[in-house]
Amino acid sequence: MAMTLTVASSLVLFLHFISSIASIDRSQFPNSFLFGVATSSYQIEGAALEDNKGASNWDVFTHLPGKIDDGSNGDVADDHYYLYEDDVELMHSLGVNSYRFSISWSRILPRGRFGQINEFGVAFYNKLINLLLSKGIQPFVTLSHYDIPQELEDRYGAWLSSEVQRDFGYYAEICFREFGDRVKHWVTLNEANLWPKFSYMLGTYPPGRCTQPFGNCDFGDSTIEPYITAHNMILSHAIAISNYKKNYQMKQEGVIGIVLYAKWYEPFRNITADHIAAKRALTFALDWFLDPVIFGDYPPDMKAFFSSRLPAFTDLEKKMLQLKVDFIGLNHYTTIYAQDCKFSCEVATSDGNAMVITTTERNGRSIGEPGMHNAATIVY
Ligand SMILES: *[C@@H]1O[C@H](CO)[C@@H](O)[C@H](O)[C@H]1NC(C)=O
Repeated sequence: MAMTLTVASSLVLFLHFISSIASIDRSQFPNSFLFGVATSSYQIEGAALEDNKGASNWDVFTHLPGKIDDGSNGDVADDHYYLYEDDVELMHSLGVNSYRFSISWSRILPRGRFGQINEFGVAFYNKLINLLLSKGIQPFVTLSHYDIPQELEDRYGAWLSSEVQRDFGYYAEICFREFGDRVKHWVTLNEANLWPKFSYMLGTYPPGRCTQPFGNCDFGDSTIEPYITAHNMILSHAIAISNYKKNYQMKQEGVIGIVLYAKWYEPFRNITADHIAAKRALTFALDWFLDPVIFGDYPPDMKAFFSSRLPAFTDLEKKMLQLKVDFIGLNHYTTIYAQDCKFSCEVATSDGNAMVITTTERNGRSIGEPGMHNAATIVY
């Protein structure tokens, strides 16, 4: 894998849901180790349009008929906006010392950069952050966890337009300014490498754009739009990083990074083609984002394969990408087998663009115990 990590001097482990926790004990970890829980704004906050919050892409999408299997939505969710004190108390009772959550972009900027800052939104996150710190819980704040003000979707197609870079930069600036005196861990985008796939390749996340055979959508282009939107995400991330590094890091003394979805691939057969396929799958899924944010450009393998479908970074953009992340967050859920299908790929699945068929079983045996656990680790 084309990636370098500095020595893991500090690790954070967010245990989203562990079903066999009995074997883990705090004494096995260094004192400085942070244990945490994690959420995202749309999944927990509720208060969807209250206190001047603007509609997000999810507020609109979940109300479209047929988009959500059971017809549910996050209008109320866990009512965290009103119950946050109880929730922090719950975390405290678990003994965690870090909490990863995301800010709802449209709660801070209901209309993106085209309207006012919502003081109610700023006040809510101030109360939350202050309460966490009073309980000895470090806030790890994600700027966007798959959500964006609907206004930006309606105005210019959100991530499809390079305009979004200005909006994300403006939003990040406000968050650093308002919360950065107390927030010492920032994440620009959550699982940024999954977002283009779900939203613009498979069409299962808002704005629900795709083409056959990837999915059934009314609009979109699954072969091109994921690469355009990823490009705008990478550059939006870079704008936020360079602003933080140049204007905030010295005085606020925090760190900033990105969180990516990191599935691992094992070769299905012990043959060279499948060893290469496993590497290729990892490159196309993870290095797609890691290489630009670490090395300033896309992986050579991807450039060769996608040619003009992959946007190019200008010299100026490459220069901006030189200001790098302080850490990388890896959300690891599972490992799967990868089988080369270079000469026989029939269906274009989400791994099909890497010419790889993936499976969790080999000779009728599962690659591992099926479980409900996943852990996200942040590596410095
Ligand atoms: C895979 O093949 C190589 C070379 O043929 C062999 O050395 C290695 O032990 C094999 N690995 C497994 C897991 O079977």
